[in-house]
Amino acid sequence: MRITSAEFILGVANLRQLPKEEIREVAFLGRSNVGKSSLINKLCGRKALARKSTEPGKTRELNYYLVNKTFYFVDLPGYGYAKAPEHIRSSWGNLIEKYLKTRRQVALVVQLVDSRHEPTPLDMMMIGWLEYYHIPFVVVLTKADKLPRSKMPNYLRAAKTTFASFEYCKDVIPFSSITGDGRHELMQIITHHVA
Ligand code: GTP
Ligand code: MG
Repeated sequence: MRITSAEFILGVANLRQLPKEEIREVAFLGRSNVGKSSLINKLCGRKALARKSTEPGKTRELNYYLVNKTFYFVDLPGYGYAKAPEHIRSSWGNLIEKYLKTRRQVALVVQLVDSRHEPTPLDMMMIGWLEYYHIPFVVVLTKADKLPRSKMPNYLRAAKTTFASFEYCKDVIPFSSITGDGRHELMQIITHHVA
């Protein structure tokens, strides 16, 4: 599938405001600054569809983008921003867990992990939730352009081993929003899940 249209529909801070239609959703989950908005822009071939953060942790809403007039991309608020006040961090956790637990429209979650670091405890907690709620997900290793090419094969093998034990993990894909690496593989999985 090629993305031929993508438009911002709405941002919601409260789950009661979620769209009512039975349209499938692909949700993007990852810590603040990991590259969620950049990845959405790259997939859609747009420079500024999803707003890139100048201030990490600023996006507190679930942003809905209608793609090819048939399904939604949902840019979820990033977690793990150390400077966010505690009450914001806990309300974030409640919001995301409730979304994952109750939203039947979710066809696939794209879980982003920074390719330069080990998954954080919060990354592993998210993956635990996805597995627990039986939500198919794909792990995307972001900013792959920042990792020396020679290191990628070993790194990818290690990451695949880490995630192999999760039944709902469909694949592990290195990705770069700068070079476009990984875009094709990721679109194939997305296509398969929204069909
Ligand atoms: P929040 O909205 O705060 O949760 O952040 P986000 O996950 O949406 O991250 P965003 O896409 O705003 O990117 C954060 C920073 O990382 C920006 O400065 C991007 O330009 C940079 N960035 C994102 N993806 C890549 C990538 O693939 N390669 C490189 N080199 N930089 C990237
Ligand atoms: Mg963002």
